[in-house]
Formats: sequence, structure tokens, C-alpha cells
Amino acid sequence: MKALLLAGGTGSRLRPITHTSAKQLVPVANKPVLFYGIESLAAAGITDIGVIVGDTADEIRAAIGDGSSFGVTVTYIPQERPLGLAHAVLVARDFLAQEDFVMYLGDNFIVGGIGELVDKFRAERPDADILLTRVSDPGAFGVAELDATGRVVRLEEKPPVPASDLALVGVYLFTPAIHEAVRAIEPSGRGELEITDAIQEMITRGLTVRSTVITGYWKDTGNVADMLEVNRTVLDTIESCLQGEVDESSEIVGRVRLGHGARVRRSRIVGPAVIGAGTSVTDSYVGPSTSVANDCVIEGSEIEFSIVLADSAIMGVGRIEASLIGKNVQVTGARSTPQAHRLVLGDHSEVRITP
Ligand code: TTP
Repeated sequence: MKALLLAGGTGSRLRPITHTSAKQLVPVANKPVLFYGIESLAAAGITDIGVIVGDTADEIRAAIGDGSSFGVTVTYIPQERPLGLAHAVLVARDFLAQEDFVMYLGDNFIVGGIGELVDKFRAERPDADILLTRVSDPGAFGVAELDATGRVVRLEEKPPVPASDLALVGVYLFTPAIHEAVRAIEPSGRGELEITDAIQEMITRGLTVRSTVITGYWKDTGNVADMLEVNRTVLDTIESCLQGEVDESSEIVGRVRLGHGARVRRSRIVGPAVIGAGTSVTDSYVGPSTSVANDCVIEGSEIEFSIVLADSAIMGVGRIEASLIGKNVQVTGARSTPQAHRLVLGDHSEVRITP
């Protein structure tokens, strides 16, 4: 069995971060979201992985390499434009050959792994098995209608009147029967070859499409709010590990991971939080559910429930909450700003905040 991991796309919902970076590489607890996907494929025993790449191919290649650090073999498959999830299957035709495969969306986050799902598919071998989760707003997702046995009878993309509250999660298992279906469908209204249309095509042809409803945690990290939520969830599971220096006037409360060469002076860090290697935190407060990447500077500021990417500086800006801050960003301002600021800043941004 192979895997097709999707790491192309435009990432318009995560702009401006995605103007300069791949959205699948935004870190969750200081590790790119894409790495969790690769680890979960490897844990399910799937080691032959095709990675779909688009405009951000160089960055994705630099991050994953040949896959050996994950114990997998990676084949890069360029997709000239993000023409849809079913289009990705089309361009991966040669790589996938006649094997069954897992299609995994590179910006999706699933706690609990996919091992059980893969084992069930291997044992029962329907033509396809799709992963579903119950959501409160099904109209925002691909929605499945099931019969009493769990067989999928209809799929609809973002339906105005949803037939159920079961949304498609970004993991699909296919036999090679999917290839004929992706060749048979036409682009949708938004100009993409939709995987929901291809699966619907399989159903119409009388093939067996089964479903598995997951009970564990799942999120699409496509937007900032979900990204912060996933970060919070992962941080809730970390263990303390202080590899940097903490001076006597500082206080570390709860579970905090402090990387090599990180320095905390006259500051308070309340976990769960991770502070990357080489980052310095001075005269500041870092609150729960916060990840600060490597080589950042936090000075005279407070930050909580946020993600800060590498090489950024936050100095004298008062309190920052619920924010996603890109790489190489400078946030500076008056030391005693009383209000909380909410920020979404792209890489290389520079922000000055007036008191
Ligand atoms: P989406 O989140 O559906 O699409 P997107 O990346 O274009 O993002 P946005 O909606 O914010 O513009 O994509 C799901 C995953 O699949 C994501 O990791 C990107 C990837 N993808 C491809 O590799 N090729 C494609 O043609 C598409 C549409 C997505």
C-alpha cells in the first residue's frame, strides 16, 4: 500500500503566511503540521509516499528531504497548478500504479493515527473507505449520506441543505478503481476536479464506498483559528523539558519545553508552552497554549494562545493573544500598551503599535 500526501494548494485562507511559505509547514508545538501526517502514515506501516507539491515545492523538499529521517521513502510529484484533490490523483497515476493507497491532506491533523483504519481497509478491501467526523456546521465541508450499514450513498461538497452532520476528514483509502473515476469527472463550478465528485462517480458505478466515523480529534488547519486550536490541543500533551537557561528571577509554571540555548530572564512562562532553541525571553510573560519557534526575541511583552515562527522579535508591545506571527517578523512599540492586540502577520512583516 502506498500513500499520496498532498502538500500543494494555494492556502488562501492562511494568507499572508502562505504568500511566502507552505501552509503545511506552519508549526504545531514547533513541528510542521505536515510532519505529523508523515509520522502517522509511517506508524500505519505505509512507507512509500508520493508527495504532491506546487509553488512551494522547494520549501517542502528542504523540510522532508528523501524521507529517511521519518523512516519512509518520498517521491515528489509536481502539480503544475492546484486544480483539485482529484487532479492530484490524476498526476500521481504513474507513481500509484496498481496499488491501493491512502490519500492524506497535508494540512490535516488527526489525533490517534490511522492504523486501525488502514488495517480495516486491508482486511475488508472495499473500493474506497472515507473517514468522517461529526461537525456542527456540515455546510462548510464535504458531507456524506450513509445507509444503515455505513455504506456511503451520496456525497456533496458544501451543501446548502446538508443530508447529515458527517463531514469528510482529509484521509481517504482507495483501490485503483479511483483512477477511472477521476478520469470520468469534469471540473466543478470552482474549476477544480473534486475528490467528492470522483467518489460519487464510484458510487454511481455501483462500487462499494464504505465510511469510518472517527471519534478522536480532527482539524483542518487551513485557517488561523483552527491552527491555534490544534496547537493548543498538541501542547496539552507535552512533557516538561528545560534545556535552556532560566535565571533566578524567572518562574516556569506547568509543562514547558525550552530548547537548547534558549534564555529566560526576569520572565514568567506558564505552560503548556514551547520555546524554541536559541530564543530569548526577557522581562516578559509567555502564557498557556503558546509556541515560540527558534531564534526569536520576546522582550517586555506578554503573549498567550499564539504561534510565533522562527527569527521573529516581539518587543515592548504589551499583550498579544490569539495571533499567528510569521518568520522574520518585527513587532515593536511602546512598552506599556494596555490593550490586547490580535494579529495575523505574514513573514517579513514589520509592525509598529502606538500606545
Ligand atoms: P485545501 O485546503 O482544500 O485547498 P488550498 O490549499 O488551496 O487552501 P485554501 O482553501 O485556503 O486556498 O487543500 C487541502 C490540502 O491539499 C492542502 O494541504 C493543499 C493540498 N492541495 C494540493 O496539493 N493540490 C490541490 O490541487 C489542492 C486543491 C489542494
